[in-house]
Amino acid sequence: MSRKPKDSKPPAKAPERTAIVVHPYGKSGRGTGGRSPEAALAEAAGLTRAIGMTPAAELLVPVSTPRPGTYLGEGKVDEIAALCGELAPEIVVFDGALSPVQQRNLEKALKAKVIDRTGLILEIFGERARTKEGRLQVELAHLDYQKSRLVRSWTHLERQRGGFGFLGGPGESQIETDRRLIGERIAKIRRELTDAVRTRELHRTARRRTPYPVVALVGYTNAGKSTLFNAMTKAEVLAEDMLFATLDPTMRSIKLPGGRSAVLSDTVGFISELPTQLVAAFRATLEEVLEADLILHVRDISHPDSEAQRQDVEAVLGELGIEGNRLDEVVEVWNKIDALSEDDAAAARRRGSRPGPRGPPAVSALTGEGLDKIRDLIEQRLSASETQMKITVAAGDGQGLAWAYSHASVRGRTDKADGRVELKLSVPLDKETVFRERFPTGGKQRSLKPKVARPKHRKLAD
Ligand code: GTP
Repeated sequence: MSRKPKDSKPPAKAPERTAIVVHPYGKSGRGTGGRSPEAALAEAAGLTRAIGMTPAAELLVPVSTPRPGTYLGEGKVDEIAALCGELAPEIVVFDGALSPVQQRNLEKALKAKVIDRTGLILEIFGERARTKEGRLQVELAHLDYQKSRLVRSWTHLERQRGGFGFLGGPGESQIETDRRLIGERIAKIRRELTDAVRTRELHRTARRRTPYPVVALVGYTNAGKSTLFNAMTKAEVLAEDMLFATLDPTMRSIKLPGGRSAVLSDTVGFISELPTQLVAAFRATLEEVLEADLILHVRDISHPDSEAQRQDVEAVLGELGIEGNRLDEVVEVWNKIDALSEDDAAAARRRGSRPGPRGPPAVSALTGEGLDKIRDLIEQRLSASETQMKITVAAGDGQGLAWAYSHASVRGRTDKADGRVELKLSVPLDKETVFRERFPTGGKQRSLKPKVARPKHRKLAD
């Protein structure tokens, strides 16, 4: 068992909540995505920090065959118990899947609360779920998890609670009462979920009716998606936000360099080896991604596991059906270049500014460097499925002019002496007809009362 030194940090003001992080590895231990045990341990420590706990010790524990009772062998359990006595952590994070019995036995032996990887990720998702549906899905997963722990781990501790009659019938055991309460809560959440899904469908329909292309941010947990989302949208409070921003905080509009708008959509972070209980919750939030016209894969390029994280994210996108041709809709953004050394940052910037099929933009959501490059990239990628056209806007048709500006990229403008305005535009292919109907060419002056067309937005590339 190797032990990593504790980070030397200045003393915090609030009492620190500490944890001991244990990563078991070996033939039957974890070893995924090409990660070394050290990298897997570092990831587990990172996830532990994500729930506000400071790892007081990080342990790598080789395990040849997991024991049914405590997973780890007796000697290892004793060593960790001694460390728990010394460091008095609030919890022990066990970076693997523990059966309820193993969890109970370890808690008894270590005299500390133990959570396994599923429990840890449930905590993280619970804190980070961004929509009502996401929160409900996570709570559902949590209750399912608790229920299975109750059933199997508490049987031997089962207490008879006599017949008071408020919570259960006479003679009903505590465990049955708890199971029943959890069951009722699960039923309630399922009903609320049905409503939340219906609301999401309504939002989705409303969004489809808006003619703006949707750009989704995906990425490994902690890659910086939310920071980027906020940095790119903070200055903009546009009218169209009202459609969904208040109801769905994960969507906001951005202005592109050509003048039109797009909708930026934030998603929940990816994590390797997602516990099965959370797959449904995760997929529900990610289904939005399938509707996007463009997917920005935000990578923490300063992370030592950046490459393994990229593979994890691509694997999940593949499972969602985004593979083969559809991978063209995914473009990388290299975030956190401020955390790289000067040389590495310079190399990343050079790669990102190559001419031709450009490299990924190298950015820092924290300092704001390179955010304009992301806008350029979005503009450029969306324009790839656009057509060039020229329109003439009638004199005095200010509304029509504004409409054209917000729904297409304006490449050129000529103001005529008689008040008409000629525009050279880059128009999304699916909006070509709407533009032709609204701004007929051939010298005809169109009526000053334009028909308000609300085209259904289609996928740009299929
Ligand atoms: P999930 O919610 O888990 O999916 O995470 P996320 O991808 O939304 O990451 P988030 O924006 O919450 O950022 C994670 C951490 O990285 C935070 O502590 C940010 O301050 C930090 N961070 C984000 N962008 C940058 C960056 O460009 N440079 C540096 N140095 N840190 C950053």
